[in-house]
Amino acid sequence: MTNFAGLNSTEMSNTYTSNLHIEKVETSKLQDVNFDDLAFGRTFTDHMFMCDFIDGQWQQPKIMPYQSMPMEPSARVFHYGQAVFEGMKAYKDDDGNVFLFRPEENFKRINKSSARLAMPEFPKEYFFEGLTTLLNLDKDWIQPGVGNSLYIRPFAIAIDSAIAAAPSENYRFMIICSPAKAYYKGTVKVLIAEQFSRSANGGVGFAKAAGNYAAQFYPTNLAQQKGYQQVIWTDADTHTFLEEAGTMNVFFRINDTLITAPTSDRILDGVTRKSLIQLAADNDITCEVRPIKVSEIVEASNNGTLKEIFGAGTAAVISPISGFEYQDTYHELPEIDASSYSSILKQKMLNIQHNLADDKHHWRYEVK
Ligand code: COI
Repeated sequence: MTNFAGLNSTEMSNTYTSNLHIEKVETSKLQDVNFDDLAFGRTFTDHMFMCDFIDGQWQQPKIMPYQSMPMEPSARVFHYGQAVFEGMKAYKDDDGNVFLFRPEENFKRINKSSARLAMPEFPKEYFFEGLTTLLNLDKDWIQPGVGNSLYIRPFAIAIDSAIAAAPSENYRFMIICSPAKAYYKGTVKVLIAEQFSRSANGGVGFAKAAGNYAAQFYPTNLAQQKGYQQVIWTDADTHTFLEEAGTMNVFFRINDTLITAPTSDRILDGVTRKSLIQLAADNDITCEVRPIKVSEIVEASNNGTLKEIFGAGTAAVISPISGFEYQDTYHELPEIDASSYSSILKQKMLNIQHNLADDKHHWRYEVK
């Protein structure tokens, strides 16, 4: 199994000499967890990874028991939101082998996000050694079987005790893990944004910057008051082009063609999004990557050619949308069944992630 450097896991452990410090828990919390009743992102594994950037250098990386941490109220992250994050998942097959899915994509993207937020890039060796060591320590928290995963949250924050509006000099990079099942229960109804925006040209929409998500909460609350779970974001200038759905990229199916918006400085380069574009090609499903007008979707809904809309992201994988509201009119979508593109592509994706299907693009990374 090749890894980020094109080496297999054994070769990798021979080429990098670690100074990772490990402090293990005395008693695992695992026996207290009810895996049949997991709310997304509420339960955390026994250990966490931490590495500070002080005096212009990344310090000794550490794994320690998951715990709260003291921080100065003046830490810059609290005032200016200088923070970036990633979402990844680990999966276990029936033989107990643990896999990540395209982890180098997440590694590259967190550094791209950091650069945009004037934060230092994190070293690749620290990231992969910290991550794989953490997963080995907490692998009993990963349940086998499709539908189960361990959600992995790498993130970096500005920790300077200073409230001048300037980039921090000191940072903390961390990884925490949470056992996960479905992100959304059932289908999702969405409201197409006509007033609010999640990102703008020249902004940070392409980055996984914490503030992108905070800015969605208020418009999403308003949508929820109207009975919608999420908002489909449109371009900030004209609100006429469809961009993302909630915290996910979004795909539309008109007749038998899938359409998704091109990435830009407003749209996240989602790992699930790019994998689905490839899986569509592999399965002879036409997928157009091009700007999509709201009017095109409304017209397709009115003439019966709009077959599906679905969100795509790490946490939710594929989340089918059952209907949308635009300009006070609700449009119901056809019911999803096993022949829907969202069902076909989701199954193909999960089978690769869970080591149940051939992995011809070498997306799986075995954690050894
Ligand atoms: C993910 O899908 O991993 C995300 O980052 C979305 C998150 C807000 C749960």
